[in-house]
Amino acid sequence: MEVIIRPDAGSAANLVARILAKDLRANPSMVLGLATGRTMEAVYRHLAMMHREQNLDFSLSRTFNLDEYAGLPPSDPRSYRSTMNTHLFSQVNIDLRNTRLLDGMAADLDAECRLYEEAIGKAGGIDFQLLGIGRAGHIGFNEPLSALRSRTRVKALAPMTLEQNAAFFGGTERVPRRALTMGVGTILDCRRCVLLATGREKAEIIAKAVEGPITAMISATALQLHARCTVVVDQEAASRLQGADYYRWIFANEPEWADFRAL
Ligand code: GLP
Repeated sequence: MEVIIRPDAGSAANLVARILAKDLRANPSMVLGLATGRTMEAVYRHLAMMHREQNLDFSLSRTFNLDEYAGLPPSDPRSYRSTMNTHLFSQVNIDLRNTRLLDGMAADLDAECRLYEEAIGKAGGIDFQLLGIGRAGHIGFNEPLSALRSRTRVKALAPMTLEQNAAFFGGTERVPRRALTMGVGTILDCRRCVLLATGREKAEIIAKAVEGPITAMISATALQLHARCTVVVDQEAASRLQGADYYRWIFANEPEWADFRAL
């Protein structure tokens, strides 16, 4: 795992977009794993800008999103399908037929999850997975005690997650109680992971995810097992990290990051 600390949320999101863009230019038919959440919206704004101004081309890429609420139709503005259409898919030249999200309205949700795993396999696996982190440390909707080998499945949402997403639904009691999510094992199978976290309220959980013991209570800790995982944080989200000086030194000195140091 590598940790990159940027001065503010804007430059952290910009860096994530540039990492993704570099990989996409090298492999235009990349299979992208996408995430939702407020943090990701800034990344999508940068990608849209790079598409408009720097010809970043999504026409050959295929995407799989991490998760979706159960019981929300894609037309519902709070569904992750709708969110992705608004913030990314309508802003770049991606073919909508190449974008896949779990169907929260499927008659058989378990079958939908199995088909999703199959579709990822048929696409050749995910090359690049974008990740946010919930306040309880979930990636996707892998709530506390998610098995570290779990595959795509239906999960009950934890009370803290319901609270965290309450604003989108006009109250905690209105948030869907269940979601479909890639499993921790599904995420660990992707070739590269980039997690973005910004803001003071993520500082405690980032310290646990990066430097704490691996535990199913915090699914993000499983990323310590991933061979190629980059965690990008702003100064605030980095404020509880013990090893911050070392992480800064790596970023300042490793040739891999030379193109990315300028703000
Ligand atoms: C939701 C999503 C997660 C995301 C999290 C963080 O729970 N299912 O994939 O990481 O929100 O959201 P935010 O970026 O708004 O803090």
